[in-house]
Amino acid sequence: MEYKEVVGRRRSIRYFQSWRPVEREKIQIMLEAARLASCAVNASFLKAIVVFRDDLDRDTLDALKTPVSALNIELAPVHIYTFADMSAYRGAQPRLKQLIDVGALTATHGWSYKFVDEFVWPNLLKPLSEGSNQAPVAAAAGCDAGIAICQAMLAAVDEGLGVCLSGFVYEPLKKILNAPEQWLPLWVLLVGYPAESWEAGGQRPRPPLEESFFEGRYGKPFKADPKVTEQLKAAKMIQRPAPLPWRKQEIQALARMFGLPE
Ligand SMILES: Cc1cc2nc3c(=O)[nH]c(=O)nc-3n(C[C@H](O)[C@H](O)[C@H](O)COP(=O)(O)O)c2cc1C
Repeated sequence: MEYKEVVGRRRSIRYFQSWRPVEREKIQIMLEAARLASCAVNASFLKAIVVFRDDLDRDTLDALKTPVSALNIELAPVHIYTFADMSAYRGAQPRLKQLIDVGALTATHGWSYKFVDEFVWPNLLKPLSEGSNQAPVAAAAGCDAGIAICQAMLAAVDEGLGVCLSGFVYEPLKKILNAPEQWLPLWVLLVGYPAESWEAGGQRPRPPLEESFFEGRYGKPFKADPKVTEQLKAAKMIQRPAPLPWRKQEIQALARMFGLPE
């Protein structure tokens, strides 16, 4: 699928074919997409633990559900528990030098081993790695992990899968997942084949471009060019908005199939 169409087709899927396993290779493709995402100082903040739902016992599965994620968690055959590694800045020094070695960070931009050792590490990264200033670490970790999760989500859509990020209760899983203390639990990325049509009722509402994005200064909207909007519709990045006319009937049919309240 073309990239723009993948972006356009992604939407949160909340009805999964709960009985249909997801091929391991498709999970690997998602993880590779996440691994290749851009990351601050080449430190991989995103960590994840793949859990096949049916490997969890009933009590644990029930205990990790939140009121806004219970059914999503129940129906999705694969759960990818995501974390931000808050210690990822440690070891940034050799990673930056590796980027110099491979010609990504170059002398033309002021990079050298000396610059890393005498300026970047002591002034910028060492304080962050020591956790003396948590807000910038959290900002980097959240942004970094979000980018990587997003790439995994788009890769899943490209593979014909449905995905939904959801909240979860960490406590019941703590012992099972055995994640290091410095991993901050984020969200669970639920994966499975959609039981609803891939359109899932249409593209979900968003504010217009001009409401969120600005040019030069806040208050001066970044104006959308209608010609570009048309191009994006043709490329299937901008799709039919929700709700599609049959969405109510689709939800009724899904409710009956899964034995859920209507
Ligand atoms: C960080 C994050 C957490 C979310 N948590 C939940 C959740 O707990 N339960 C849920 O049903 N959807 C959750 N969602 C999905 C959003 O509600 C979703 O963005 C919204 O339904 C519409 O957008 P979409 O369909 O284009 O994804 C989450 C999304 C993000 C990005």
